[in-house]
Amino acid sequence: MDVNEIQTIEHDVLIVGAGGAGLRAAIECSAQGLSTGVISKSLLGKAHTVMAEGGMAAAMGNVSPRDNWKVHFRDTMRGGKFQNVWRMAELHAKQAPDRVRELEEWGAVFDRTKSGLINQRNFGGHRYPRLAHVGDRTGLELIRSLQDHGVHQGIDFHMECTGLEILKDAGRVAGLAAYWRDTGRFVLFKTKAIVLATGGGGRCWRVTSNSWEYTGDGLAIAYNAGATLMDLEFTQFHPTGMVWPPSVRGILVTEGVRGDGGILKNTKGDRFMFDYVPERFAAETADTEKEANDWLAGVEGARRPPELLTRDVVARAITAELKAGRGSPHGGAFLDIASRRDADFIKRKLPSMYHQFKELAEVDITKDPMEVGPTLHYFMGGIKVEADSQMTSVPGLFACGECSAGMHGANRLGGNSLSDLIVFGRLSGLGAAQYIRGLGNTPQVDGEQTRMAFRKATAPLNREDGHNPYVLHDELQDIMGAKVGIVRNEQDLTSALDDLASLKRKVKTVKAHGASQYNPGWHEALSMDSMMITAEAVTKCALSRQESRGAHTRVDYEGEREDWLPYKNEITRGADGEMVLTKVKRPEPPKLLKDIAYSNIDDLEAGKVGADN
Ligand code: FUM
Repeated sequence: MDVNEIQTIEHDVLIVGAGGAGLRAAIECSAQGLSTGVISKSLLGKAHTVMAEGGMAAAMGNVSPRDNWKVHFRDTMRGGKFQNVWRMAELHAKQAPDRVRELEEWGAVFDRTKSGLINQRNFGGHRYPRLAHVGDRTGLELIRSLQDHGVHQGIDFHMECTGLEILKDAGRVAGLAAYWRDTGRFVLFKTKAIVLATGGGGRCWRVTSNSWEYTGDGLAIAYNAGATLMDLEFTQFHPTGMVWPPSVRGILVTEGVRGDGGILKNTKGDRFMFDYVPERFAAETADTEKEANDWLAGVEGARRPPELLTRDVVARAITAELKAGRGSPHGGAFLDIASRRDADFIKRKLPSMYHQFKELAEVDITKDPMEVGPTLHYFMGGIKVEADSQMTSVPGLFACGECSAGMHGANRLGGNSLSDLIVFGRLSGLGAAQYIRGLGNTPQVDGEQTRMAFRKATAPLNREDGHNPYVLHDELQDIMGAKVGIVRNEQDLTSALDDLASLKRKVKTVKAHGASQYNPGWHEALSMDSMMITAEAVTKCALSRQESRGAHTRVDYEGEREDWLPYKNEITRGADGEMVLTKVKRPEPPKLLKDIAYSNIDDLEAGKVGADN
């Protein structure tokens, strides 16, 4: 293969991924005067960002003037079970309101309060109505606004293009080997910096809200380039995905349904969430139906209903009800908004949910309850980055959004993802610009490394015979669903690692039939490599963490353990190519942030905690 004959495209900076984080990063890079390219595995506008439906969290105080960054920060840390990177949670809480206002200036059409401000709704784990929203299509509106703004900034978009391997010069980023999914041709991007914004790896599981693109590509690309991954045991199962019919199992049912008053019931008609309130949240959660109803009616002083506990708690509760034989007919729980809100309200605030259930399940949610159950939705773990710049341990390689780690700790609060994308998308753009300005000489792509990257990619096509990639993907989903699910134990996790090791051997001889043009079997074969790295990293981290914290539940190690609080799991690629897990101490937080995060809420609100800044 003559590398000189490969199509070559040059940019100062290349963004991999065109969801909310990638688009925001690209806009910032372009605003900094960099020639900016974006590659997107699928078509523009098709990103998991749209699955954050209910809103973006920002302490704007439009609905509750008592809200401010400190309360948002405290909620985020408590929701993340104090595993968050403190500085990231601080930056996020402080900067999210400006990013939302900026989005409005760029054309996002938010729902309004009666007095014309951006409206904010309730969501799990947020003390105040904090989610700026556009009905139940907020992620879609975010993408639309960023795209509209971005296309006028001179950014080059390369659609249906998948990244394969980062090319380096003396340890620094020099380029990316990639291929066009339609023609199957290779393309070489020469670039001084790369921002990964590729989302998570939900497709390692069968029941997931993630669409086909989310195969952990960014995690694998970064890992193979020598970057560190962390916190991968924290995989979020959103409590409410569709469970019926089977063809749509896993599709998201927005938390906005519960935020707007929806309640969960088991098959006996019990509102079971009252039985699952954790000690940490007891003081802030209603303990009777009457109080929860008062809260919905806006009665001053009434505490929040238990359906608005954090996602890890609600997902575990539904799973426990199922296990106890009190599940709904198709293996979930009932989510009822019809008895709480009138049809006009439901159609106005939750139009997508109304149509989704009408068209896909023949259920009219203004009249009948929905059937819902946990669905793999989000990775809290991912690529380790430096908080302010979002740079990874590889010079010139940045990561933002879901593929990066740290912001959400052990469990993400709903709505914190969209604000994460715009806060850290922007910061990664600034970080990349600063890095490029400080570069002495332009890194050069190594011909041999490039050739090897492309040769490796053609291997599944060139083999005489081998395993079917779709069958292997199915096997992977079986393993992860059965042994690395919502509730875990040592025996299953150990057995999953064995299974993954033998699956890895099969993946080494995966065979894609046909030529490279328009060949989905080949794409599937290539994405198996990314999913295998992702799945192994998740399983190793899950086995290592011998406690239950946030989204990581171990039946053999119940409850949070003090001795695990200061530690995290980091994953790197060893010299022999094997995956290495290291238990690493987390840095101590600044006193001010610690005081805020652990404060009594009344003291915080009375201004007794934390100097104002
Ligand atoms: O339920 C939802 O609308 C999802 C939001 C999120 O994941 O942030």
